[in-house]
Amino acid sequence: TDYLYYQELDSTNNRARVLASEGYPEGTVVVADMQTAGRGRRGRSWYSPSNQGIYMSVILRPVLPLKEISRISLLTAVAVAETFEEELNLPARIKWPNDILINDKKVAGILSEAVTDMDGIEYIVVGIGMNINNQLQEFPGDFRTAATSARAEDARPVSRVKVLQGLLARLESHYLDLLAGSFEGTLKKGKSLSVAIGQVLRLDTINGFLVGKAIDIDENGFLLLRDQSGIVHTIISGEITIL
Ligand code: BTN
Repeated sequence: TDYLYYQELDSTNNRARVLASEGYPEGTVVVADMQTAGRGRRGRSWYSPSNQGIYMSVILRPVLPLKEISRISLLTAVAVAETFEEELNLPARIKWPNDILINDKKVAGILSEAVTDMDGIEYIVVGIGMNINNQLQEFPGDFRTAATSARAEDARPVSRVKVLQGLLARLESHYLDLLAGSFEGTLKKGKSLSVAIGQVLRLDTINGFLVGKAIDIDENGFLLLRDQSGIVHTIISGEITIL
């Protein structure tokens, strides 16, 4: 595996996309100590100060049926949550699709980007941002109430390298399981860590919104939402707010 470390990048996802387009192989890991233009989902930015967080992206070239590709997003969330639990002893949960929360505040986020060519998916860049040693008062104002870090939950400064190693080991193990056709264990873990299942929530998508009860996460990581009239919707993407 290639590990590429940078002191500073605009975004590890941007760098990984360039490297992937140049042919860098599956498993290439791009890490930066800080990002000047860290990107989040839905066009948001990701606060990426130096020495505080983990900002990394991995290039994947999965050979999988198209309908199983979304499993990668769930398995990444599981690997990140397990890393907080097992390396740092913090009670992490998953807010579908892939926000990681500790005590209801966001501690990590995932931005997966698939690049397609005529034959289908050419590669996927999975980007992970984890707030590790940030002090809460250093977060920009609009994040301060909704965000947290390992340090803020526990006060103990930790080695980001150790956390990153723990994360990569878990990512690899879940990914190899997926490629080997055994996703059940990862799915079960993902469901058990989910804060959405059983809750009434509002889902916002590009097409509008829907209110209903989250009844399950299906075998590809999609959310099953039962609306007020009893219709069950399979939700592929969107943003949930627990009501
Ligand atoms: C989100 O929750 O909106 C996703 C945040 C993803 C942030 C990470 S940090 C490393 C990688 N590079 C980026 O520019 N974004 C992701």
